[in-house]
Amino acid sequence: MMSRNELDGGNIMNTINLSQVEKRGFPFRYHILTYGCQMNEHDSEVIAGLLENMGYTPSNQLEDADLIIVNTCCVRESAEEKIYGKIGSLKALKMVNPDLVVGVSGCMAQKPDESKIIRKRAPFVDFIIGTDTMQELRGVLTKVYQDRLPTVCISTDEYRRIADRLPRARSERHKAWVTIMHGCNNFCSYCIVPFVRGRERSRTPESIIAEVIDLVGDGVKEITLLGQNVNSYGQGLSEENDFSDLLRKIDRIDGIERIRFMTSHPKDLSAKLMNVMGSGKHICHHIHLPVQAGSNQVLKFMNRGYTREDYLELVKSIRETLPGCSITTDIIVGFPGESDDNFEDTLDLVRQIRWNAAYTFLYSNRSGTKAAQMSQQIADQTKKVRLQKLMALQNVISLQYHQEQVGRTVEVMIDGESRTNPDVWSSRTATNELVLFPKIRALSSQGPGDRVQVRIVEGKTWTLHGQAEI
Ligand code: SAH
Ligand code: SF4
Ligand code: F3S
Repeated sequence: MMSRNELDGGNIMNTINLSQVEKRGFPFRYHILTYGCQMNEHDSEVIAGLLENMGYTPSNQLEDADLIIVNTCCVRESAEEKIYGKIGSLKALKMVNPDLVVGVSGCMAQKPDESKIIRKRAPFVDFIIGTDTMQELRGVLTKVYQDRLPTVCISTDEYRRIADRLPRARSERHKAWVTIMHGCNNFCSYCIVPFVRGRERSRTPESIIAEVIDLVGDGVKEITLLGQNVNSYGQGLSEENDFSDLLRKIDRIDGIERIRFMTSHPKDLSAKLMNVMGSGKHICHHIHLPVQAGSNQVLKFMNRGYTREDYLELVKSIRETLPGCSITTDIIVGFPGESDDNFEDTLDLVRQIRWNAAYTFLYSNRSGTKAAQMSQQIADQTKKVRLQKLMALQNVISLQYHQEQVGRTVEVMIDGESRTNPDVWSSRTATNELVLFPKIRALSSQGPGDRVQVRIVEGKTWTLHGQAEI
């Protein structure tokens, strides 16, 4: 049992009703459920960091948690429905433990008017916190514990202040994410992200570099720089600082081994960036370059700002400047007005470019976006048939590409044990290929973050399989 003095300490527990603490024991435990992109995964680490600073400890089991936060994504309707299902299921846990606090954070929480819908569909939710108000979490929790009233904390300013250098509880020791910019100004006509994450704002290079130096000092070997469109980094900063300048500076940081970044928008990828990647020592040769569609008409209605020919030209110069660089993409099928011919243009582009991997999506109507008002919405069945065709084509290409790797020796960095077999390491090449290889008994000290030479013995659609060379 706790004494009053312990409760008066600097952590959140001094705001909690004493009998509640006596009932549940100390410290309180949290569990975060994360949906969506890397940006959200990283935000979950920040939420975890803030909570641990308040005195919470992590709980692996949902059932054991005193606080559950659902960090949400709203990029497609399917994601939203899945998340509403999950939030709904938490009600049963609240029935068993009425002191359980449930919060909703992330992009759904931030989506215009969605907080009202969340309150309606899940009235038991105790608080809703936006993507740019995470630093207010302590105040929000204090209010929830003291007043026991639902609390909503969201900033709707277009240019929200960047809360720099918040604490974080990182999920992995050897690699880390670093958000270099927030928001998006592109307003692709199908996309809800600009409405949710606000206007584009870049962190200063000084702040980013200080963070990377701290991370490397903490044993991090690989960092991934995150932004919705990293190629437009630096706009609005006082000095001349573009993304290439930032990469060059980070590349010089002592001890860093691998630098990754995402996402690149084709309309802003410069020759300067390719040159910096070519001359850099630690910059991984992988560019995630979403094309979205292969038809000029569709690209125009998507408001992507480039043509199919521009994209082909860009890929050509990447392959000339950076031989062996892997290029991956995102493709949407069933955008409003996409005809059979338009879709054939996409398949044709897939055959021409042969991306190393393509992430493919059914177009999802997001209210508030321009595309949602377009008249020629495509029937679900047509979208599904197109997606199947596209995936089948890309799978053949990925398999062929992986089979061509057999016999080669590649350098990988170990991420951890394979999820399905503890005797196998899961690792990545610099070009972001997933490589699985059996652990070697003699090298029992080997572990995450170590670099190993692996000879590829088998190529499958999604993975390469190899043997470590000693
Ligand atoms: N900023 C990144 C992507 C963010 S969203 C970029 O511009 O590439 C990740 C992917 O989700 C997008 O690339 C797109 O392919 C997909 N996406 C976004 N909105 C969508 C929608 N309404 N329906 C289907 N897919 C969508
Ligand atoms: Fe969405 Fe386009 Fe911005 Fe990417 S660049 S987040 S797809 S609006
Ligand atoms: Fe990411 Fe989903 Fe938000 S893709 S930015 S978590 S809407």
